Amino acid sequence: MMPDAFKFDPREGILEILDQRGIPFEVSYLKCSTSDQVAEAITSMAVRGAPAIGIAAAFGVALDALRGRDVLEAIRVLGATRPTAVNLFWALNRMRSLADLPGDRMADAMVEEALTIWREDLAINRAIGRNGADLIPHEGVVITHCNTGSLATGGYGTALGVIRSAAEQGKRIRVFVDETRPRLQGARLTAFELFNLGIDFTVICDSMASYLMSRVKVSCVIVGADRVAMNGDVANKVGTYSLAVGAHYHRVPFYVAAPLSTFDPNCPSGDRIPIEERDPDEVRCVMGSELFPPSYPIWNPSFDVTPGDLISGIVTELGVLRPPYEASLARALDLWKAR
Ligand code: MRU
Repeated sequence: MMPDAFKFDPREGILEILDQRGIPFEVSYLKCSTSDQVAEAITSMAVRGAPAIGIAAAFGVALDALRGRDVLEAIRVLGATRPTAVNLFWALNRMRSLADLPGDRMADAMVEEALTIWREDLAINRAIGRNGADLIPHEGVVITHCNTGSLATGGYGTALGVIRSAAEQGKRIRVFVDETRPRLQGARLTAFELFNLGIDFTVICDSMASYLMSRVKVSCVIVGADRVAMNGDVANKVGTYSLAVGAHYHRVPFYVAAPLSTFDPNCPSGDRIPIEERDPDEVRCVMGSELFPPSYPIWNPSFDVTPGDLISGIVTELGVLRPPYEASLARALDLWKAR
């Protein structure tokens, strides 16, 4: 059974966050009653995935509002947790817009807003799944990277939501899951989700994807996004760019699935997206075991940027956006703002 990524108890004002670091071997929850605890859960990657950290951060602000703490300080601290996924800042801006309400009304409004962000994300994921399902044929073979499922979102998933939706239509699908070094979100989390969903999957090392495409007829690659720039460049988990280059060489369609809250209207191109660099020990150690001595130099960018030129389509809740992206993204964002 799939554990929920979050549980919220409105009477106690407690957010329980599934500690994804233990998956697939251990299911446990972190009980959070303050924004600091939520911020720690985000930086330590107990909760991760662009939509999920937005939802967690929204609840973090609401928890402090319930306890009469300084919500602007909460927004500042939560906004400093991870720099790349724009959903975090989008969710915090929604919470900030309520910060001028008087005390008790503000707390109720913030709890309601956090719940709304969560519920909306689930509905958006289902729409992304419906809109993208046709991209995967019956008996299709798909490669995915990192984890974009119910653990990374408000539920259901983005890229994994597309795969789920196609499977729910009765299509037989085989999924190859990049293990996703350094933190293994593919091998640990996506494989866990696919196992629970009963969808056929095989885990591969990231470096095997191009060879796989040269040997097997892969129908498409589908991944998520942490930030989409207005020219269609996409920041996503490091390794995505290599996968897109390999797909291009082998003429395999490469799709991104993301909610419009992942699009950044203030970011004209991918070179303006801030890329998080994380602790070198994430590369040096796997699940607590050292691979080499601490004196060896390491570079650990957590994300990379795939140029829009390599992307065949971006699946959103409003449909599949196609190149040229300057035009299709601007139109989609206008429609989104006008809702
Ligand atoms: O560092 P992570 O695990 O937060 O990175 C997650 C990803 O890169 C996902 O692909 C992205 O957030 C999309 S989640 C629907």
